Amino acid sequence: MALIFKTDIERGGAWRAAFAKQLPDVELRLWPEVGAAEEIEYAVVWQPPAGFLASLPNLKAVFSIGAGIDHLLADPELPRGVPIIRMVEPGLTVGMTQFVVMACLMLHRSMIDYRNQQVAHHWEEISQEPPENRRIGIIGLGHLGGEAAKALRGFGFPVSGWSRSRKQIEGVTSYAGEEELSDFLARTDILVSLLPLTPQTEDMIDAKLLSGLPKGASFVSAGRGRQVVEEDLLAALDSGQLSGAVLDVFREEPLPKDSRFWDHPRVIVLPHVASMTNPATAVGSIVENIRRIQRGEAPLHQVDLEKGY
Ligand SMILES: NC(=O)c1ccc[n+]([C@@H]2O[C@H](COP(=O)([O-])OP(=O)(O)OC[C@H]3O[C@@H](n4cnc5c(N)ncnc54)[C@H](OP(=O)(O)O)[C@@H]3O)[C@@H](O)[C@H]2O)c1
Repeated sequence: MALIFKTDIERGGAWRAAFAKQLPDVELRLWPEVGAAEEIEYAVVWQPPAGFLASLPNLKAVFSIGAGIDHLLADPELPRGVPIIRMVEPGLTVGMTQFVVMACLMLHRSMIDYRNQQVAHHWEEISQEPPENRRIGIIGLGHLGGEAAKALRGFGFPVSGWSRSRKQIEGVTSYAGEEELSDFLARTDILVSLLPLTPQTEDMIDAKLLSGLPKGASFVSAGRGRQVVEEDLLAALDSGQLSGAVLDVFREEPLPKDSRFWDHPRVIVLPHVASMTNPATAVGSIVENIRRIQRGEAPLHQVDLEKGY
């Protein structure tokens, strides 16, 4: 029984040590040393080459190293009968909560204006809004969005979220479905995107959606770049419909050198680093699921291929 593991070379060592400790009965093979394909029962991967997973005849589960699984669905030969499991692990969740809190506090406390003032050597106080006047809305109130929402509540912000299905999170107002999207947007001063990339969410954050926010609202993009129509976002920033944006994900990554986002005075650019899977804590989640599969139980966090996330 073997597990094939594919990630970037630099992080391979940390994963190997954690797997050796927590899964001693399964042989770990590091990509591209595949060996005998029929011995591989588990694959833990990020951006596997198209057709690779289909070449493993005895695969029992595919684990995504990241929360998003769009990198797997890009493979036209992805074996449909094998469970696909997305990454839900404490390190990734904590990292995203930190990022969302940081970005919202930066926008709430006028850090874009203060950065611009610093560049201009300009000293001026900007009035502070109390948190209860800044309504935060998370579009994609799933695992990561829910945890970020709880943390933001702790700062005194009114927090709401939008998802397909209604959620019960103490102190967080849940909006659900297309018919409640406009009400959710109308009460949102800082919009945080934590949606997965699916055919329904691609290009969803466009001029129409952004115009549903109150004038001067701001935006945090941490889901996937292809959800955002970037020309529409730039137009909203230029017109003042949006007063600022913290952007971690882009349609093209790395962000092209000539992108207007780099120099836009109302934008903070990050290189897709909102949160990263932590091998030390992620291996525990993977091992728990392998044990469940070995006992004949359903794995946790299995992707619904119909929904695409
Ligand atoms: N930038 C980074 O570094 C980074 C790191 C990790 C993750 N991410 C992104 O964050 C995403 C979310 O991760 P997660 O673990 O929180 O996923 P999740 O638990 O599956 O949550 C996704 C949420 O989006 C909602 N949703 C999906 N499609 C929708 C639609 N068409 N209309 C309305 N709501 C919709 C879901 O609604 P239901 O609950 O009703 O199904 C769910 O609440 C990932 O897919 C990935 O793209 C980014």
